[in-house]
Amino acid sequence: TAGQRTAQQPAAKDATRNATPNAAGGVCGTLDTLLVEERVFRPLPRVMAEATVNPQDAAHARRRAEQDWLGFWEEAADELQWFRKWETVLDDAEPPFYRWFAGARCNIVHNALDRHIETVNKNRLALIWEGEPGDTRKLTYFELYREVNRFANVLRGMGVRKGDMVLIYMPSLPETAIAMLATVKIGAIHSVVFAGFSSGGLADRIVDARPRIIVTVDGFYRNGRVIALKPLVDDAISHCRRAAQDRGEASADAGIEQVVVVHRAHLDVAMKDGRDHWWHDVMLHQPSEALTEVMDATDPLFVLYTSGTTGKPKGIVHSHGGYMVGVHRTLNWVFDLKPTDIFWCTADPGWITGHSYAIYGPLMAGTTTLLYEGHPLYPEAGRLWSMVERWGVTILYTVPTLIRMLMRFGTQYPARHDLTTLRLLGTVGEPISPEAWVWFHKNIGRGQCPLLDTWWQTETGMIMIAPLPVSLLKPGSVTRPMPGIEADVVDAKGNSLPPRTGGYLVIKRPWPAMMNTVFNDRQAYESMYWSQFPGWYFPGDVARKDDDGYIWIQGRADDVIMIAGHRVGTAELEAALASHPAVAECGVIGVPDDIRGEVAKAFVVLHDDVPPIGGFVQAEDLESELMEHVRRELGPVAVLRGVEFRTQLPKNRSGKIMRRILRAEELGEDTGDTSTLEEEPFYLR
Ligand code: WTA
Repeated sequence: TAGQRTAQQPAAKDATRNATPNAAGGVCGTLDTLLVEERVFRPLPRVMAEATVNPQDAAHARRRAEQDWLGFWEEAADELQWFRKWETVLDDAEPPFYRWFAGARCNIVHNALDRHIETVNKNRLALIWEGEPGDTRKLTYFELYREVNRFANVLRGMGVRKGDMVLIYMPSLPETAIAMLATVKIGAIHSVVFAGFSSGGLADRIVDARPRIIVTVDGFYRNGRVIALKPLVDDAISHCRRAAQDRGEASADAGIEQVVVVHRAHLDVAMKDGRDHWWHDVMLHQPSEALTEVMDATDPLFVLYTSGTTGKPKGIVHSHGGYMVGVHRTLNWVFDLKPTDIFWCTADPGWITGHSYAIYGPLMAGTTTLLYEGHPLYPEAGRLWSMVERWGVTILYTVPTLIRMLMRFGTQYPARHDLTTLRLLGTVGEPISPEAWVWFHKNIGRGQCPLLDTWWQTETGMIMIAPLPVSLLKPGSVTRPMPGIEADVVDAKGNSLPPRTGGYLVIKRPWPAMMNTVFNDRQAYESMYWSQFPGWYFPGDVARKDDDGYIWIQGRADDVIMIAGHRVGTAELEAALASHPAVAECGVIGVPDDIRGEVAKAFVVLHDDVPPIGGFVQAEDLESELMEHVRRELGPVAVLRGVEFRTQLPKNRSGKIMRRILRAEELGEDTGDTSTLEEEPFYLR
C-alpha cells in the first residue's frame, strides 16, 4: 500500500523552523515533518447510531470544558459515589503538587466493587480469566466482591494498615486483581511488579517501596513452560538483606513480614516458617464481608514503577479520587461501553494500562474484563483470535508491538476465526505506523471497527489524547485531546507551533488522574516533568499537529535525530520503513556523521515470508531498496546511512523498542541501566 501514500514536503516549513541544537539534551528546536499520511476513515452509520457520545455531544463537551473546566470535571466526578463530597474540585495552592477533589472522602474499590452489589451488576460477570494451558475462571461481581473481602481480612489479620505498602509480584491471574483490590479496600497502597522482572529488578523495587507484605505465586505458565516466581522473591529478599547488612542496618527480611503465595503451577517451592503462607490456607474460613476504608481523595492508591525506555525506574504515585474520576470518564468515552460488552485489554496488570483499563476502569464501569495469563503466540499465532471468538470479545485494546508481531504471520490466523463480535479496537504504548494501523483495522476489525489510538503514560494515569468511536480517524494519528484536556505542541520557548511543525508535546492544565509525585522523590517530580516549561506538564514526547488540529506523535524527545540540520522524530522514519512490504519491525537511531552531523541508521526485522538473506536476497540489495524506499516516502532529507537486519530488536518488558540500547550498542558504549530490558525475546516464535 506504499503507493497510496503521498510523500510530499510541506511548503513553508522553513519559515517556522528553529533548528538550534541544544546540548543540554531534550528540549531544543522544532522538528521537521516528513511523513504525510492522507488516508482518512469516517465513522460508519452503524457506529454513529450506536454511539452514546455522538459528534454533537463531543462538541458540546469540548465547549463546556473550555468555558467551565472545573465544572466539567466535577460532572465527571458526580458519576461516581463518594462518602463525602469535595471542598474544592482542584486545590492548586502548591503547584505542581495538585490536589484533586481535596476534602472529599472515597475509596476506588467502593466504586469498582461494593456499589455493584446493590445493583443488577451483582450477578454479572466481572472477570473472565484464561490460563495459558486453557483452564478458565469466571467471577461475577458478587463472587469477586467476596474474594476481595476475604483477602482484605487476610491482610488486616497480618497487621496491614492504612498507608502500608503491599507489593504484588504476579502474572495475570484472578488473584492479582483480588490482591490489588483487597489492598486498596483496607486503605493500603499496592505496588504491582510485572512478573517478567528478575529478582534484581524486584529487589530495586523492594528497596524503594519498602513493602511489609509480598503477594506472589509459586510459578506460572508462559510459552509452554512453567516459570518459577517464588524463588525469585527469596533471592530478592536475601539480596536486600545483604545490602542492609552492608549498610550496618539489621533487617531480618528487608522489612518483609509476610509472603503470601498463590498455588498456581504445582511447584514444590521453599516456604519459610512464620513468614511464607499459601494463599489457600490463609483464605480458609475468612469472613466474606470486610469494611471498606474511608480514604481522603488525595490519599495514595498505588505506586507503579515505570518501565521507561530510558533511565532508572521511578515510582509513580497515584491517588484515589482523581484517578478514579479520570479513568472512569475516559474508559466510558473512548470505549463507549455497553452492558453487553466483553472488554479485553491485553496489557498485563503489572503495567499502567493493565491497572487503568484491565482492572479499575472496567470494574468501575460494571463491565466484564478478560484477563489472559500467557504468551500471545501460545500454542500458535491464532491464540488471540481464538480467544476473541470463544469469549465473544467486543472491544480489544492492545499494543503496536503485538500488532506488528501478528502481522508477520499474515492473515491466515485471523481468517480462521469468527471475529464478528468485535466492535471497537484500541492501541496504546508506542506510535503505530499507518501500515500496522490499516492492517489491524482491515484484518481484525473487518474494516468495521473504529481503531482508537490512545496516547497517555504511566504518569498521566488515564487516556489523554484519543479519538472517540465517532471521530474521523487518520491512521497514525492519536487525533485530538480528550475533552477537558489541554494539550499543545510548542517550541523550546513554549510558543505554540503552527500545523506541520514538530515540537514538544505539553499538557497545559492539570487533569484528574495525574500522578501526584515520584515516590520518595518530590524533587524528581518537579524537575523531570514541570521544569522544562514552567506551569505545564512535559511528557517527554515530540509531536506535530496537522491542518485539522490532529496530533501525530513523533517519538520520544530523547530519540530525535538531527540530519543535516533537520530534526526528525524516529516515528516518521520507522513508519516509512514499515510501509515497505518486507519490513515487519524496525528501530531507527541517529549516529554521528562527520559531514551531516548525524545520520539515521535502521535496524530491521523482516517479514516471515521474505526469503532468507543470503539466499535469493542479498542484504546489500535489500538495504539499498529500503533506503530508496524511505527517500521516496519522506523526501531527500531522510537519509538512512545503513540498514542492519536482525531477527529481533531490544525491547523493554512492555514490548517497546529500546532505541537507547541500539544506540549504545552501535557506538560501543555502555548500555546503561538495562533492568527494564526484556531478557529473552518476549515474543518467541
Ligand atoms: C508512548 C503507556 C505514540 C509515549 C500507557 C509515552 C505512545 C509513553 C502512545 C508512555 C501512542 C503511549 N502513540 N506513543 N498512542 N501511547 N506512547 O508509561 O512515548 O508505558 O510517553 O504508558 O509511551 O508509556 P507508558
